[in-house]
Amino acid sequence: MPMICLSDFEAYAKKRLPKTTWDFFEGGADECYTRDENLLAYKRICFRPRVLRDVSVIDTRTKLLGTEISFPVGIAPTGFHRLAWPDGEKSTARAAEAMNTCYISSTVSTCTVEEITAAAPNGFRWFQLYILSNRTLTEGMVRRAEAAGYQGLVLTVDLPYPGKRRGDFHNNFHLPPHMTVKNFEGVFEKENSFMYGLPLSSLDSSLNWNDISWLQSLTHLPIIIKGILTKEDADLAVRHRVQGIIVSNHGGRQLDGGPATIDVLSEIVDTVQERAAVYLDGGIRTGSDVLKALALGAKCVFIGRPALWGLTYKGEEGLRELLQILRDEFRLSMALTGCHNVSEIGRHLVRFSKL
Ligand code: FNR
Repeated sequence: MPMICLSDFEAYAKKRLPKTTWDFFEGGADECYTRDENLLAYKRICFRPRVLRDVSVIDTRTKLLGTEISFPVGIAPTGFHRLAWPDGEKSTARAAEAMNTCYISSTVSTCTVEEITAAAPNGFRWFQLYILSNRTLTEGMVRRAEAAGYQGLVLTVDLPYPGKRRGDFHNNFHLPPHMTVKNFEGVFEKENSFMYGLPLSSLDSSLNWNDISWLQSLTHLPIIIKGILTKEDADLAVRHRVQGIIVSNHGGRQLDGGPATIDVLSEIVDTVQERAAVYLDGGIRTGSDVLKALALGAKCVFIGRPALWGLTYKGEEGLRELLQILRDEFRLSMALTGCHNVSEIGRHLVRFSKL
């Protein structure tokens, strides 16, 4: 059956993956309210399409902190890609490189940063960092990402503790023995709390705004903070001189009961006022979702779970196919709303429906 839309890949992955892996990919925290809201919120936004605008030529390209990408969708950091496809993150990196977009590789990947770079040497990559209690180890990770040619650091700030994902508890989810969190292979002793590949004690739950300055003192790479949901924190991020913000609720896997990311985007964009780039992830499933997020001020969006479905389907080829479908849908949405290029996309394109 040909793949027509992202839901087709989702249905394939659900059928194909072992239940434990499917539940790990798909799961949200607690009752999954926030995970589901991320998707539902797009349905409450309508377009205000313009017509008769000669849309015979459409340009979907944009720039991420100065680097051109083919369309405003990148790959959000997710862990454990080898659960989806044997080559894991290497295939993800190759697909992103082929599609000329950005891949944010996770701290908890099942391939090392060096292996990911070797797989796609010309790819555009940012490294997603968790600051660990062991700062020497954290600094070592930053150095390795720099040496491997990564062009940005995405600091995830919404995980002082892992959220309570019920499915993973029911399934007693653990990485299979032949897979490891490869960046830290041999560093930690195996212990009971290894559910997500790192000992719980390795996460630094004391993390606070002063640590941003510490990170800046280590590196010249741009820093993008992932996990901002309020204008107050967006303002603090800008005052701490970060280059970018990803409006994210971790795909609803951390705090349940928080807002859909698209619903808080405008307040954050209005607060930041071009002082930093604002991006978004969570619930992007169609090209029109991408257009709505750009209309409300995101410079680019990132996909988490859909990338895992693409990988599950056919590795690099499957993820490339999924990205092509999303790019084609985005182009069509641009044309049908009368936009020639991304700079023409703005708030005038959308309104909130009363539903
Ligand atoms: C994630 N996410 C995540 N975020 C992060 O900063 N580091 C990580 O290692 C992971 N790992 C991870 C694993 C899995 C299986 C999922 C589904 C998500 C969160 C991710 O970056 C992103 O915020 C969400 O996935 C976006 O929502 P969608 O696109 O999945 O709806």
